[in-house]
Amino acid sequence: MSTEIKINFTLDTNPLANIKADAQIILVIDKNLTHKSIQDKKALDILGYEGADEEVAQIGNNIYVGTSSLCSDEIRLAISNALKKIKKSNYKTIKIGSYASETNSNISAIVEGAILGSYKFDKYFTKKTKEKLENIIISSENYNDNKIDTSKANEEIKFAYSVASSTNIAKTIVNSTPNDVTPQELAKIAQDLIKDIPNTECFIGDNEYLEKENMNLFLAVNRASANPCRLIHLSYKPKNPKHTITLVGKGLTYDSGGLSLKPSNFMSTMKSDKGGACAVLGIFKTISELGLDIELHAVIGATENMIGGDAYKPDDVIIARNGNSVEIQNTDAEGRLVLADCLSWAQDNIKSDYLLDFATLTGACVVALGEYTIGIMGNSSKLKHQIAMNNNSGELSSQLPFNKYLKKTLKSPIADICNISNSRYGGAITAGLFLDNFITDEYKDKWLHLDIAGPAFVEKDWGYNQNGASGAGVRLVSYWINNLAQ
Ligand code: BES
Ligand code: ZN
Ligand code: ZN
Repeated sequence: MSTEIKINFTLDTNPLANIKADAQIILVIDKNLTHKSIQDKKALDILGYEGADEEVAQIGNNIYVGTSSLCSDEIRLAISNALKKIKKSNYKTIKIGSYASETNSNISAIVEGAILGSYKFDKYFTKKTKEKLENIIISSENYNDNKIDTSKANEEIKFAYSVASSTNIAKTIVNSTPNDVTPQELAKIAQDLIKDIPNTECFIGDNEYLEKENMNLFLAVNRASANPCRLIHLSYKPKNPKHTITLVGKGLTYDSGGLSLKPSNFMSTMKSDKGGACAVLGIFKTISELGLDIELHAVIGATENMIGGDAYKPDDVIIARNGNSVEIQNTDAEGRLVLADCLSWAQDNIKSDYLLDFATLTGACVVALGEYTIGIMGNSSKLKHQIAMNNNSGELSSQLPFNKYLKKTLKSPIADICNISNSRYGGAITAGLFLDNFITDEYKDKWLHLDIAGPAFVEKDWGYNQNGASGAGVRLVSYWINNLAQ
């Protein structure tokens, strides 16, 4: 993919002064300009530089960035700001010290800040500029003088490089346009993504397969589309897996709303409705290429939601794969229909310890939590907590609680369940509860739903994320799986 960033990261046990490089990044922590790592005190003083949050200054070949603390996400942001500053330079090799806090070596934050922060989406520009930066050398010389465990640090570099690169790949697929990434193309991308990774396999189901599987909800969403749909199943089976995890992703390569058509200002950006599928692909790539001892499955429902004489309609009743009848009252609540059949397929075909779905499912989730935070829903408080705890990944998440009153709002007078709630409130939760209806007793406590509608695609730069896709979900859940694998 054209937008992949290739930077070589190495850990060097030599002191910074003995490492040869074209330039050095120096972090100013909490405005402490008297710290011994600051080499240009006088010059910085003349400039009036204070080392405030995100404040950048360059003196010769030293690039100073202010950051309030040694929190890992502050370090990511600082590194990304430093790289922005030197974007136009001809530096090939840069060095930086270690900035470990009491609890975190922050090596991964340095690597992730660099890779995530220097991402740019140039796929459709006919002229592309080549990045000149090739190497970042991290010295184990530490800001606080305590020792860095070098073998652990090297492991961290490996993981961070993989997870940040996979996040960037997810961004590129989400940012790609609906005339480029159709469901068929998404299936090809998935196949390509894993072709060199050992112990992986790919199965692609077409419309005919879905008919055999009675995936009528999924097929109904696809019916008015000129592009056929695809069920994508990737599996990674290492020799001695500690757990089996299945990830299910909403892969709406375009969501026009169907007959319940979206107003045009809401329709644009709906290329991002494949964000769940892309998150799943990103996580799958990282876990499988690192060879972690976790059996992992990715199940993606890829389709468009379009209009036409053949379109499914508000008032239709459709029988889901699990046999439940579903009354359609809004064709724009399509993601939950595709996911319902995919979740049913996944539960019947894969024996998993954990089942997680990822979807840009509701605008209501963005209203509830703001656009930067993932909504986590499910029946197991323990599992919700386990995932939400991975905020050292730099991703924000919050739990949205189910309750029996909201569950009742999905009742239909003519079918087992309606695809929308009869209340205008709690829309993220009622969408989650709709999915819960398709989770069998065996999986009730193994399942979680992640609504990534907010952070998957934000129309402005934020932190070290660029305007557009952010690869939401990839880091949060890859961090969790990496911990499970240890
Ligand atoms: N893909 C949308 C949700 C969405 C909205 C994602 C904004 C990202 C940003 C989803 O298919 C949808 O349209 N949901 C409806 C549900 C409603 C009809 C109950 C919504 O959120 O309005
Ligand atoms: Zn929709
Ligand atoms: Zn949608």
